[in-house]
Amino acid sequence: QVKNREIESLMNRNLAPAAVRVLHDLGRVGDRLELPVYAVGGFVRDLLLGHDNADMDVTVEGDGILFAEAFAVQHGGRVKSHQKFGTAVIVLPDGSKIDVASTRLEYYESPGALPTVEHSSLKMDLYRRDFTVNTLAIRLNAASFGTLIDYFGAYRDLQAKVIRVLHNLSFVEDPTRVFRAIRFEQRLNFKIARHTEDLIKNAVKMEFLEKLGGRRLLTELIQILKEKEPLKGIGRMASLGLLRFIHPDLELSLTLQEMLEDARYVVSWYDMLYLEASYESWSVFFLVLCDSLNDDEFLSTCNRLAVSEHFKEKLALARRQGNELLAGLERKLIQQGKLDNSEIYFFLRGLPVEVLLYQMAKTRNAELRRCISLYFTKLQGVRTLVRGDDLKKLGLAKGPRYREILDAVLSARLNGSVHSREDELQLVQGLIAGL
Ligand code: CTP
Repeated sequence: QVKNREIESLMNRNLAPAAVRVLHDLGRVGDRLELPVYAVGGFVRDLLLGHDNADMDVTVEGDGILFAEAFAVQHGGRVKSHQKFGTAVIVLPDGSKIDVASTRLEYYESPGALPTVEHSSLKMDLYRRDFTVNTLAIRLNAASFGTLIDYFGAYRDLQAKVIRVLHNLSFVEDPTRVFRAIRFEQRLNFKIARHTEDLIKNAVKMEFLEKLGGRRLLTELIQILKEKEPLKGIGRMASLGLLRFIHPDLELSLTLQEMLEDARYVVSWYDMLYLEASYESWSVFFLVLCDSLNDDEFLSTCNRLAVSEHFKEKLALARRQGNELLAGLERKLIQQGKLDNSEIYFFLRGLPVEVLLYQMAKTRNAELRRCISLYFTKLQGVRTLVRGDDLKKLGLAKGPRYREILDAVLSARLNGSVHSREDELQLVQGLIAGL
């Protein structure tokens, strides 16, 4: 049995002092309203494992919305509530969020009807969850602050590093849990329990996953691809026969495996290079996963996954252009042996980062890879010193010549044949004069 003070000392060690204060405050508001309050789920799991988890999940035995509003009145923050589900989110003044759930649900089926009230216990609430490791609760009310509640052997499974469902119908009730099991297994470095794995295989065989809507499947896939080690998750998906839900022909060949490893390498290289980079690293892995599919197959995969129309078009176009441009660049490289910086620049300019990284992972040509890397590190940031305004002052009439001349100056700058603004102006004058 884990003692309250062990839990408290874990909190003090692993959480920010402000978060510990919030936990105590939650308990005190519960005391005032005479409602039992618990921290639950992933937050407790991660606290016990010593992992970071900023999302605080709280369950109130009673009306959670009322509780959330009382908390916000006393401690500041806004409340967004969902009457139908008896849930609320408290957004604290510092922007952090607390999810609040109720074990007492009261909702109106139709206007004017009497409310439907569902009353269940904390134990029932926890029993509805996906895996034992997510069923731990910690009491927050002052008199018993820090009491660990473990109805389903969660603590034992945490120590044994096992992902286990609570009952045999878990994956039938919610097939997304198949992907969640993989995600937790890989992220926490746990192992899916034998019986749980058999239930997954059974769900796959009985085609329960076919019923999963595209959007939900995509959300789960993205989450796996966003993990620190996406390859492990993809490998597990492959061994459980799940890749075919992305596309029937998809399999983890040796080539694909190598390409994924290269993608992981280039993604971490790029993240190190640009710490603040805003791009979707998951789409790099997604593009690599779909590399063997032709354009039609790629589009049908996006449709199956309910990728938004806009994003699908963007991705499909960039994928096609990326393949064509890189093939062109490679041909040129073979013909000439070496490429000018400006040639590399104008080939790659306009392609999204995701597609460039995908191409970088895909190519077997080391020189081509070097070209893309040079584009990222040096070329893409190069700018001319002369501007359109300078051209206007030199009397150039409006028209497509502006772009041509500025691109020619940019080429010269990329190739190192102009160094100063004067050099550039001289070049511009020559170009305008038609020299
Ligand atoms: N849950 C579930 N079945 C699902 C999704 C969620 O039972 N398909 C439960 C889980 O037990 C989880 C809780 O709802 O503890 C909250 O879900 P989520 O925030 O996705 O889980 P976390 O465990 O917090 O995961 P993460 O660390 O990735 O945020």
